[in-house]
Amino acid sequence: MRVLHVAAEMFPFVKTGGLADVVAALPAAQRAAGLDARVLLPGYPAVLDALRRSRKVHDGGTLFGAARVTLRQGVLTDGELPVYVIDAPYLYARDGGPYQDEAGREWRDNLQRFALLGWYGAHLAAGDAGPQWQPELLHCHDWHAALACTMLRLHPPRRSRTVFTVHNLAYQGRFELGDFPLLGLPARCLDGLDGLEFHGQLSFMKAGLVDADAISTVSPTYAREITTAEFGCGLEGVLRSRADDLHGILNGVDPAVWNPATDAHLAATYDAADLDGKAQCKAFLQQELGLAVRSDAPLFAVVSRLSQQKGLDLLLEVLPGLLAAGAQLVLLGSGDAALESAFREAARAHPTAVGVQIGYDEALAHQIIAAADVILLPSRFEPCGLTQLYGLRYGTLPLVRRVGGLADTVDTTTGFTFDTADAGALSDAVQRALIAWRDRPHWRTLQQNAMNRDHSWSAAAAAYTSLYRSCRLRS
Ligand code: ADP
Ligand code: GLC
Repeated sequence: MRVLHVAAEMFPFVKTGGLADVVAALPAAQRAAGLDARVLLPGYPAVLDALRRSRKVHDGGTLFGAARVTLRQGVLTDGELPVYVIDAPYLYARDGGPYQDEAGREWRDNLQRFALLGWYGAHLAAGDAGPQWQPELLHCHDWHAALACTMLRLHPPRRSRTVFTVHNLAYQGRFELGDFPLLGLPARCLDGLDGLEFHGQLSFMKAGLVDADAISTVSPTYAREITTAEFGCGLEGVLRSRADDLHGILNGVDPAVWNPATDAHLAATYDAADLDGKAQCKAFLQQELGLAVRSDAPLFAVVSRLSQQKGLDLLLEVLPGLLAAGAQLVLLGSGDAALESAFREAARAHPTAVGVQIGYDEALAHQIIAAADVILLPSRFEPCGLTQLYGLRYGTLPLVRRVGGLADTVDTTTGFTFDTADAGALSDAVQRALIAWRDRPHWRTLQQNAMNRDHSWSAAAAAYTSLYRSCRLRS
């Protein structure tokens, strides 16, 4: 089956979160399973720099205000995966992030930037973006790719079907209603239950939810949660109306990137049969970050975007109790300025027990996940979550709030869970982890259970294949 993934991020070229990891790993797992999976990406500088063996496959001329738009096909660095890259310098050739400038402000032309991504997805699927490979299934990821579903639905007779995957309902791609004409869509696409209008704005997320043939999200629990007012971000009614087409498929772990037995970022490698290397990783990290080098101090860790979603304000509340019990904390992350400074302050106040690195650092993320004893995810909501899966694989027990994908991947045989999003419940879970830590044979058993859990991408790839096969064209 020919599948085109349409996405705004792909590890290691452009990444703000787990979406990038998924877009790198899932197509590779699908190719290993015999599908012809490919990826369509915006031509950010990092993507164009990595593009090899490329040729121009379509001349778009002027689109969404950008002149000289072309589509190139090639591979990225030494990869095998065929990628299509939209070369539109006016929209994509700039420093900064995929969605924001260097100061953290949304790009003012995100509507045009991601309308163009959707346009190419739809036109490749419709067979009118060059005389070439035509996907049977368009797999669109998050709001950035959502308009592909709308644009393709306007293209009868069409044969390609669309799957829209929600990685995070909280980021919706909302724009001024007055900018609707910039999209070049017929007026009937705007209004009504099935229109792009949502609470007086345009919503790309809603477009994906109403126009895709099937919808998926990245865990079964989140698939249920988003049909409720608590987690639905206002879109729960739309999601309920499509309940029969809504599926939850858990993400996996890419073993080429996250494997403690081969991880080149680590001071020492290890596996479930021999955890000596893990102890060396812990001592190395404690030393690097200026913490007391103590194997008997339980090391708690966070590797995360610092946003409201992740519940790390609760961790600040329980930190005094954690330190009083003789534990240590390492945090790597960036985002919310108040959280950044609060954690920096904690590190200043407790230099031998709290290590904080503000920023994005791939190597350090691996070193922390290998070195720590517990990986913390006290999230308010979590569509899937990948760091707890990396923790399981590295024998680093996850301590998580029981929501979304965290509820589906961690239980009392592999980690620690709590229910209510408050400091008291988190503190109880931390106490349970500390008690378990003192019982060394029990801790080893939990680690073995965690490391033996199968979160390979092949299971997810098979689930997507059956979704693709069952998905019917929506008229
Ligand atoms: P989300 O997508 O909501 O951020 P996930 O758990 O799905 O959450 O994915 C986060 C990904 O980003 C993981 O690969 C994690 O290791 C990585 N990550 C998060 N923060 C950092 C950071 N500061 N430095 C390096 N990697 C990070
Ligand atoms: C989102 C979610 C995260 C999920 C990731 C990949 O960023 O916040 O929970 O793991 O997408 O699907």
